[in-house]
Amino acid sequence: MAKRTIVTLPGDGIGKIVLDQALRVLDASGFEAEYIHGDIGWEFWRREGNPLPQRTLDLIKKHKVALFGAITSKPNDEARAELDPSLHGKGYVYSSPIVGLRQKFNLDICVRPCKSYKGNPLNFIRRGKGDTVEEPVVDVVIFRQNTECLYSGVEWTNPPEQVYRALLTHPKFAENFGRVPVDELSVSTRIFTRRATERILMAAFDYAIKYGYRSVTVCEKPNVIRETSGLMWRLAKEIQKRSYPSIKLLNTNIDAQMMWLTKNPEDYGVIVAGNMFGDIASDAFAGLIGGLGFACSAQFSEDGIAVFEPTHGSAPKYADYKIPIVNPIAMIESACMMLDYLGEKESAEKIRKAISGLILEGKTRTYDMMKMTGSPEVVNNGAASTVGMADAIISRLK
Ligand code: NAI
Ligand code: MG
Repeated sequence: MAKRTIVTLPGDGIGKIVLDQALRVLDASGFEAEYIHGDIGWEFWRREGNPLPQRTLDLIKKHKVALFGAITSKPNDEARAELDPSLHGKGYVYSSPIVGLRQKFNLDICVRPCKSYKGNPLNFIRRGKGDTVEEPVVDVVIFRQNTECLYSGVEWTNPPEQVYRALLTHPKFAENFGRVPVDELSVSTRIFTRRATERILMAAFDYAIKYGYRSVTVCEKPNVIRETSGLMWRLAKEIQKRSYPSIKLLNTNIDAQMMWLTKNPEDYGVIVAGNMFGDIASDAFAGLIGGLGFACSAQFSEDGIAVFEPTHGSAPKYADYKIPIVNPIAMIESACMMLDYLGEKESAEKIRKAISGLILEGKTRTYDMMKMTGSPEVVNNGAASTVGMADAIISRLK
């Protein structure tokens, strides 16, 4: 079979470190691909005034599959100060290249599995009956709508005249905010479209069928946010009735869900939510299975673009260690999601088995798994380095 071509987007900080290790693991698993590097991140903002250059977009458009590490984002004033002096005053404005990537390619479906590994010392435990300690098995997959909701960027402080007038036509606005001076108003809109909401719901139901989950839980707040959360819940009921009667449909409010997940996380399977509540739910569930070192994700567009990335950022404080210490598992798991997508089941299973065996054995643990504070000393105190962890996974692939 012809080799696949995959665009690698290391980005900044630990993004480069964990991506390099994931590529070593992919190679060792027998997966064959040609990797093409794509420029993205802070360096390109500073040098070119664009952290997501057109040539990178062209590469992704052409090859359609990308593995992404992480980027660094900074507030506007810091971004401006770090721009190359020759580019000052030319109207360059920084914006996050990963958010840009999601928008440019309409990567509207975000999938974030949170599955506990047996033997992971970071697994959530709870108090059971009679003062026993229980370790529930978490196996939750969050479907986060990735392009709309409160993150779409449609917002104003001191909204323009037409917007203010339009808002005044809403009786609740007139009553509650009508006397507030317009320059004291900040408005962020929460927009859901029927089409994108249907797409994330269908993706969640399809996944539940494909991977044998019994339930799909809509995690929003339709009793209060009646229009947008209400739309998702209404559509979920229609879609379940019409096309997925074998899947149980549940409804939780985001606030209650945050409480329930520490009481009965084993009761949830696939969870689907809008952008913001999906973001919150996926971090919260990731916390139950070991946190950022274990949180992987995939993002898909309707026209066949797929980007795989760990949920964590560039962790700048750990970026320049002579011996890197961060946990590469989130990145390696994201690479496994890519293998699933490409139909490379054998390699994906091999890698997952290597990781689960290694965690169960408990001999090789990065600093986070040993509950240490990150510092260059952790490797002298028994923690595996990033490369050490990848080596241990690779040795189990043979
Ligand atoms: P972060 O995820 O980079 O790091 C937070 C903390 O989590 C780290 O200090 C570290 O203690 C821990 N951590 C993260 N990844 C880890 C790993 N693989 N192994 C062990 N521990 C790990 O988030 P933070 O500090 O809020 O942001 C740093 C930069 O990353 C910012 O510039 C932010 O904008 C950017 N960012 C980028 C994201 C992306 O590229 N998708 C996502 C989140 C943040
Ligand atoms: Mg988040």
